[in-house]
Amino acid sequence: MLRARRELSAVSARLREQAERPVSGGESALIGMLGDRLVSVLRSHNTPSTLYYVRADGETYVVKVEFGRAPTLRDEIRWYRNAAQRGLPRRLFITGHSGPGLSFLLLKRFGDGSTVDDLALAGESTGQLGRHVARAMDSDTELFHRTQCHVGQDHVHRLTERRLALRRSQAGKFPYLRTLMDVDVVTINGIGLPGASRCLNRVFGDPRLVSYLTPDRVGMTFGDLHCGNILVREGFTEVVDPRGGPLLPITYDYGKLIQSVEGGYGAVMAGRYVLRRTDGTAYEFVPEVVPGYSSVAVLLAASCDELRYLQSLYYAALHFTAMLPHHASAQEETTALYLCGVSLFDKLFTQLA
Ligand SMILES: Nc1ncnc2c1ncn2[C@@H]1O[C@H](COP(=O)(O)OP(=O)(O)OP(=O)(O)O)[C@@H](O)[C@H]1O
Ligand SMILES: [Mg+2]
Repeated sequence: MLRARRELSAVSARLREQAERPVSGGESALIGMLGDRLVSVLRSHNTPSTLYYVRADGETYVVKVEFGRAPTLRDEIRWYRNAAQRGLPRRLFITGHSGPGLSFLLLKRFGDGSTVDDLALAGESTGQLGRHVARAMDSDTELFHRTQCHVGQDHVHRLTERRLALRRSQAGKFPYLRTLMDVDVVTINGIGLPGASRCLNRVFGDPRLVSYLTPDRVGMTFGDLHCGNILVREGFTEVVDPRGGPLLPITYDYGKLIQSVEGGYGAVMAGRYVLRRTDGTAYEFVPEVVPGYSSVAVLLAASCDELRYLQSLYYAALHFTAMLPHHASAQEETTALYLCGVSLFDKLFTQLA
């Protein structure tokens, strides 16, 4: 096995060397080091990491790299190590390393990198999509069941509150976002809805509601189970881009899926929406209805009991609100994400009534 992967071991050793140099030389040094092993480069739009497709031993592999402190990729590497230590499936993971110069993750390549998002946005709406999502949910749920522990609702709620408090204060640094967050009423297509801060205060200020919507168990999950992280290859499915960090309730990840297929996240991130400000905080906002997402949304709702679905819907609305500062430099996209979030809160409150 090791013999068969001689070239790959050499690439991995050189990546480690470069990672350990306090000044890595940046991307040009990395590209120089990979030489003609480098097949292509894929820059991600949201995160500081870059993916390099590399040939070794007649196969193509994926190297995910982040330069400098690399907090996100360090967490991801930690997640894979943690899974391996607990005897959980290694999935596509081969190795990873964090040094002062850079962090890297070496993965087996899975198909051509197509995701459930890609298929849905290309117009696919057959049962195949649902099967991929169901498989991803099953492996996340199994992971959770194998690692879960009871920590109590207060602990889980404190995690939620802390995350939202941090993101609200980060959002406050962008004047347009501060206005949006704190607006009393935002009007979407002629219907007035409470603004995001009001929605959060309504839940956080009502202990009975918090208790209803907050699970008491946490475990290991992929942590970012949206349709852009579910890779598909014919009848096979893989999940990439796991999040390290604290153990989470499973409804956190189901919330990521609801956000993806029911909340409009996939359509907005693909630029498939119409947004026009008509007056003050009144908007015409129409995310495209993507049939593939709609079919998966039906499957998702059917695979949860009512309480679990509502708890997941709550997380989906929170995810939209929490992600705003990370997108804030793109004002139109962020406004669209904000409107998705308040719409999901409205859906939640309607279903709770
Ligand atoms: N092992 C793999 N095999 C094939 N393609 C992959 C693999 N890992 C990642 N990709 C491709 O690269 C894309 C981005 O990877 P990943 O989600 O890990 O990075 P990211 O930093 O979160 O980027 P983004 O912000 O675009 O989600 C995936 O959507 C997929 O298309
Ligand atoms: Mg990703």
